[in-house]
Amino acid sequence: MHKQSIGIGLIGFGVIGSQVAKVLTEKAEILADQVGCPLVLRKIKVIEQDLTKPQINEIGRQYFTTDEDEFFSDSEIDIVIELMGGESPALQYLEKALSNGKHVVTANKEVIAKNGAGLLRMAHQNNVGLRYEASVGGGIPLIAPFQYELVANKINGIYAIINGTTNYILTRMAIDGIDFSTALASAQRLGYAEADPKNDIEGIDATYKLAILTSLALQSEVKPDDIYHEGISRLSASDFRYARELGFAIKLLAIAKRKLNTIEVRVHPAFIPQDSLLAKVDGVYNAVLVEGDLVDKVLFYGQGAGPLPTSSAVISDVVAEARDIYLNVKNHFQIKLNTGVVIRPMSEIKTRYYLRMTVADRSGVLSQITKVLGDHDISIASVIQKEADKVNQTAEAVLMTHPAGEKAMKQALEGLSHLEVITEIGNFVRVEA
Ligand code: HSE
Repeated sequence: MHKQSIGIGLIGFGVIGSQVAKVLTEKAEILADQVGCPLVLRKIKVIEQDLTKPQINEIGRQYFTTDEDEFFSDSEIDIVIELMGGESPALQYLEKALSNGKHVVTANKEVIAKNGAGLLRMAHQNNVGLRYEASVGGGIPLIAPFQYELVANKINGIYAIINGTTNYILTRMAIDGIDFSTALASAQRLGYAEADPKNDIEGIDATYKLAILTSLALQSEVKPDDIYHEGISRLSASDFRYARELGFAIKLLAIAKRKLNTIEVRVHPAFIPQDSLLAKVDGVYNAVLVEGDLVDKVLFYGQGAGPLPTSSAVISDVVAEARDIYLNVKNHFQIKLNTGVVIRPMSEIKTRYYLRMTVADRSGVLSQITKVLGDHDISIASVIQKEADKVNQTAEAVLMTHPAGEKAMKQALEGLSHLEVITEIGNFVRVEA
């Protein structure tokens, strides 16, 4: 006997939550057709402040509660959608929902990145589903491809632009030649960056998303703390000018690279060739390039944030789960943990480097710099030197190296910082080519 309807409980009524409630209401008929029976919104758990929002009346005040017990004891709720964000109390709510036998759909990247494997186990023990398509890349289908469509592959690489805020800032810096703080202020004015932009600009948000994708790709448990991350605030307008002159774009890249039984996982600004596909991903758009042994390269591209794209992913999870409930089938993804994967320490990675320095504008300076680099076995691929300040007789020197070890590069940077002829090491950026 099929169910007559499937009950939905929603936690969170911010920009995403209110959009999801709106879609569930406005597309009720289409969604019922997709599932086989109606999806019925039973309750929305909110915080006190939400109760003043005008959209509450559009949905119907009777659906809203601030009472946790009232929400979790509603036996009519089959699927809990969590859209409150943040780690706590979202994690406790998800655990409560799963242990109460509710299926769960969440967009919460932080909770999934830190606790995904444990929550999937909990879902399995309780014979319910846990879906999180909206946790990475907003409206771009990514989780399902990693869980299902790409499983025949050995995933050898992920190269991703998965933070729209930073990609917007970097695009403005590249196109308009403005500095970081001006671009950030513009992102904040447009509502792309939050008042406290730390999670985005320091690469933490991208780290959560990379942890989720890498865990799926490797069938392993890669935690955010396992991932090296560096933000974008050290980049200057001049880095973008030099990058262009050298044929590169600068992007905040989330990288997972398999090398035999080890994996490099890192998030940092990177020079990438101007003619590469990822270099053309501009503004708030996201893109994820996946390399598999069978499929070769696959590129996912689209809007990685915002209420409409994110609601697309959330609702697709709800429909998938509701179909299973309606048909009484169990199609729950299980993560099989492969414990043989070793994360390579950052000190062992090897890349090319871009290095920008302010140096004394006199003879013999470059030979002192090349000696320090040479002492650490770092070979120079190209040099640009430009007169910077006539009065102080300084110049800006930009070097591109051949592939070098991170450890050697860090030691060379330390050595360079002691050279009297170098006034300032402006920046160094890794190159992914
Ligand atoms: N702050 C995130 C971004 C939102 O800029 O991509 C989507 O997770």
